Amino acid sequence: MTLYERLGGEAAIQAAVILFYEKVMADPSLSPFFEGVDFEKQIQKQIAFMTMAFGGPSQYSGRDLRASHASSVRRGLGDAHFDRVASLLGETLDELGIPGPTIDEVLSVVGTTRNDVLGR
Ligand code: HEM
Repeated sequence: MTLYERLGGEAAIQAAVILFYEKVMADPSLSPFFEGVDFEKQIQKQIAFMTMAFGGPSQYSGRDLRASHASSVRRGLGDAHFDRVASLLGETLDELGIPGPTIDEVLSVVGTTRNDVLGR
């Protein structure tokens, strides 16, 4: 079974997107990066993010992630923000009842995107 299936497929992604979105927007260190990004795009972003996190890094090329975060990097996006987002994702999955070892697996997939997201 893929990670995506083990996490509960599309329904789980939707639940996770809503919870995760609320957490990111409620964090004063993260929300400024989303200023001026339209709502549709933000939701699309969260779905794309979750699909990547649930399905594996092959869904998104480093070039895509680099390009879509370049303006955030220019505005100061760094390791602390990345760590915070990863930690909010872990919290989200925990609240949805995903087992710890599966969460670790998801976070290690997300971790492989760090250098691309941070443009280095
Ligand atoms: C942790 C790993 C991360 C992954 C896998 C990820 C993934 C993505 C994806 C797939 C998109 C959509 C790209 C597109 O459709 O153009 C996106 C856009 C975006 N991400 Fe991330 N992201 C990550 C971390 C972050 C962090 C830490 C921040 C800032 C706190 C952030 C802020 C943004 C913003 C502002 C956009 C929208 C850019 C725009 O539309 O102008 N991301 N991200």
